Amino acid sequence: MKSCWQEMLKNDGVNIHFNNQFPPVYYLHGLFKSVMLKVGILGGGQLGRMLLQAAANYPVETYVMENDANCPAAHLCHHFVKGDIRNYDDVYKFGRELDALTIEIESVNEEGLAALEREGVKVYPRPAALRTIKNKIEQKQFYAAHSIPTADFVVTRSLKELDQYADFFPAVHKLGLGGYDGRGVQIIESSAEAVMGFDAPSVLEKKVAVHKEIAQIVAVNENGQTALYPPVDMVFDPGLNLLSYQISPAELTDTILWKVEAIALKVVKALASPGIFAVELFIDKTGEVFVNETAPRVHNSGHHTIEGNYSSQFDMLWRIILGYPLGNTEAILPAAIVNVLGDEGYSGEAKYDGLDEVLLMDNVFVHIYGKRETKPGRKMGHVTILSADRKDLTYKQSRIRHILKVVSGE
Ligand SMILES: Nc1ncnc2c1ncn2[C@@H]1O[C@H](COP(=O)(O)OP(=O)(O)O)[C@@H](O)[C@H]1O
Ligand SMILES: [Mg+2]
Repeated sequence: MKSCWQEMLKNDGVNIHFNNQFPPVYYLHGLFKSVMLKVGILGGGQLGRMLLQAAANYPVETYVMENDANCPAAHLCHHFVKGDIRNYDDVYKFGRELDALTIEIESVNEEGLAALEREGVKVYPRPAALRTIKNKIEQKQFYAAHSIPTADFVVTRSLKELDQYADFFPAVHKLGLGGYDGRGVQIIESSAEAVMGFDAPSVLEKKVAVHKEIAQIVAVNENGQTALYPPVDMVFDPGLNLLSYQISPAELTDTILWKVEAIALKVVKALASPGIFAVELFIDKTGEVFVNETAPRVHNSGHHTIEGNYSSQFDMLWRIILGYPLGNTEAILPAAIVNVLGDEGYSGEAKYDGLDEVLLMDNVFVHIYGKRETKPGRKMGHVTILSADRKDLTYKQSRIRHILKVVSGE
């Protein structure tokens, strides 16, 4: 019999798709409801922090492992463990006493996670899915093997090999392992620029004539049920090739929206893992849709779901981990997200100029991540704006980017 707790959490029925490709449920739901699950997060940055803010609403005992005891998530968990998320022994020891584990960054030791999974610890995402995604070479090969549309590519093992691909440019060179937030991605317009590439195993992919970049977040539970959030438009500064702001829902024709949803569902079904997945896609000038990359975790493009959607991406991940029904992904109001980045020329103790002015704005929600030190480009926070009027969203995001600056104190 369902408890009233489960009834209360029941999904309102939007966008739920069923499939039979996943193994049957092996969660003992009844048992889990009666005990406080111990769940660990590998990494203590802002994603871990926001996950813990959502955890406070559920019966769960939280653990975080990170090297830095002053990290953004440290003070919000029940148990903080100092350790290296890239080290097998640290990950294994951390996870041994836990019921379930999740990650906030891909560069964790997935062998440690695989060992824990073999011993019965639930891991979100499954280590096999993480392994596919972690290395951009394997990720691209996975798309090709599953006929998921993605830019054509070749694998290069050294910089020298780029000499063979004079006909392949303009292209984008991407480090197989270790890239993050634009580091490890190099646009190469012609063979004259090939020297800018990476002298390590990488993928060289055709540069897409990008009309729009979209992110589609998908939630997948243990039964393989999925729920899609409205997609997000990622708006880039054309000069700097830097993300300016994000806006949800993305402005798409119905046909392109259906393509985006179908492709994102194909990606998560092929990954065959429960969890939250953010599929980044390109739409080119002709309306063709390509998968750029997938993150097997909560994602920057979903931060607006905290205030903007009935169940946020963070709330949703707890529902999945704790075995509760999926939440309602529908938007309460359209939203924009501005990332608050460390300003150029400032390093040291962070100070937030213009914060009072932003806090006076209506329907604007400030998230400062609590990082003590700023440096140029470091993600220090984000601001979410809600409005039924898209013009209001674009006006306010531009004002906030103009007003709010992260500098360093004297
Ligand atoms: N094949 C491509 N064609 C055009 N632009 C690309 C391509 N691949 C990447 N980019 C641009 O580079 C950005 C970063 O690349 P991405 O693979 O998403 O790396 P990261 O892991 O840093 O997010 C993308 O958001 C996009 O703007
Ligand atoms: Mg990306």
